[in-house]
Amino acid sequence: MTNETLPKTAKLTLGDHAIDLPVMVGTAGEVAIDIRQLRAKAGAITYDPGLGNTGACLSKITFLDGEQGVLRYAGYPIEELAKSSHFVEVMWLLLHQELPSAQQLAQFTHDITYHTMLHEDLKRLFSSLPKAGHPMAVCAAAVGALSTFYQTAGNQTHEQNWIDAIRLLAKMPTIAAYSYKHSIGQPFMYPRNDLSYAGNILHMMFATPCEAYEPNPIVARALDLLLILHADHEQNCSTSTVRTVGSSGANLFASVSAGISALWGPLHGGANQAVIEMLMSIRDGKRTAREFMELAKKKDSGVRLMGFGHRVYKNYDPRALILKQACYDVLGQLGKKDPLLDIAIELEQIALNDAYFVDRKLYPNVDFYSGIIYKALGIPVDMFTVYFAIGRMPGWISQWLEYQADPEARITRPRQVFMGATPRPYQPVEKR
Ligand code: SDX
Repeated sequence: MTNETLPKTAKLTLGDHAIDLPVMVGTAGEVAIDIRQLRAKAGAITYDPGLGNTGACLSKITFLDGEQGVLRYAGYPIEELAKSSHFVEVMWLLLHQELPSAQQLAQFTHDITYHTMLHEDLKRLFSSLPKAGHPMAVCAAAVGALSTFYQTAGNQTHEQNWIDAIRLLAKMPTIAAYSYKHSIGQPFMYPRNDLSYAGNILHMMFATPCEAYEPNPIVARALDLLLILHADHEQNCSTSTVRTVGSSGANLFASVSAGISALWGPLHGGANQAVIEMLMSIRDGKRTAREFMELAKKKDSGVRLMGFGHRVYKNYDPRALILKQACYDVLGQLGKKDPLLDIAIELEQIALNDAYFVDRKLYPNVDFYSGIIYKALGIPVDMFTVYFAIGRMPGWISQWLEYQADPEARITRPRQVFMGATPRPYQPVEKR
């Protein structure tokens, strides 16, 4: 159907009662039935666990077409941004849904550069936590703690929210690097204002006070590409979490801290760490690739092909296609080889020729190849999801700001279908 042929309403018949519900069409042609009056008109609610069929908001930021394997940030295809843009420019694009002018980009880059340091008192938070703690827990705590330093955060003007956005974009790499330095007992490295965003991340992660350190430009470019590819992905679990927490009026730092926690899960951003651990288990002979794949097809095996499958993509995740090629490019440029890439390719080939995966439209997602590149860049495995969070930061913030500006926005409060006990009288304990 086209916009012209599409009916303006959808008819719902429930017994002898029929109602008409408005039909909406997005700018990319997706069709939605507006059910905001459903309960009032039909006395019924919908049931959609996981919300896979439910639009929670109108948004102009990112568009996915899962059937076609399309991803666009404000209309710009991810393939073109990956090839021609850089992460700070993509931050602006997501936040404004327009590419910046040269002057806007210069000012934005300056503003971020000059907000990268953390308050000296915040540094004590890291040293108060166990070195073996997962860095995602440390980062969620540190980001939440930012609101103790910026106490006006909350119901603010757009200008005040904007400075909090700059603070978060600027300080997330510093927080990430400090969580790593604390875990290995090395001194924190202050950010450097002469480095690029990605170069500064590498500096704060790998430099020491003992000698000069210059980030490898190949590594910095590869990291910048990874950050672009992770920057936003419409209403995924962690972004929906950021919107939901913000919908209560909680401040940006609290909302993003919750998003970091949601991203940590192995079904979401935590999958990039799980993929490498999966590939390593095969490399180290725990089981062959084929043995692994047979287990991954058995529900009760407790084994899942991590980095495969997606709620929206029922085709190849376009980011995975870019990352697969980047694996070869980066390993080649760095003169490295990694047997894990060969194992990943073998698993993919098995899956693409196995009815279990083909029938369920399970393809590699963004997490399947990303870890191989992080590993080639020298990033420790338990930091992989933290890097996902650094990349997703502009997405979370832009979606949070869009929610704040949405006149139709309401506090998120889904309904349920109650399946529990019917009314019954209290029984004193001696009678139970
Ligand atoms: C991210 O939403 C986003 O946009 C997320 C993200 C982003 O940028 O924000 O793209 C990032 O989170 C990517 C996904 C990373 N997670 C993983 O790689 C973990 C492995 N994948 C899955 O667990 C799963 O595919 C999900 C969680 C990604 C999607 O889950 P769904 O949509 O709820 O799908 P499902 O679990 O209902 O699976 C449908 C079927 C089931 O089999 P049947 O019940 O039909 O027999 O496919 C099977 C599943 O058992 N299945 C898998 C599988 N993924 C799904 N079987 C084996 N291995 C897998 N990886």
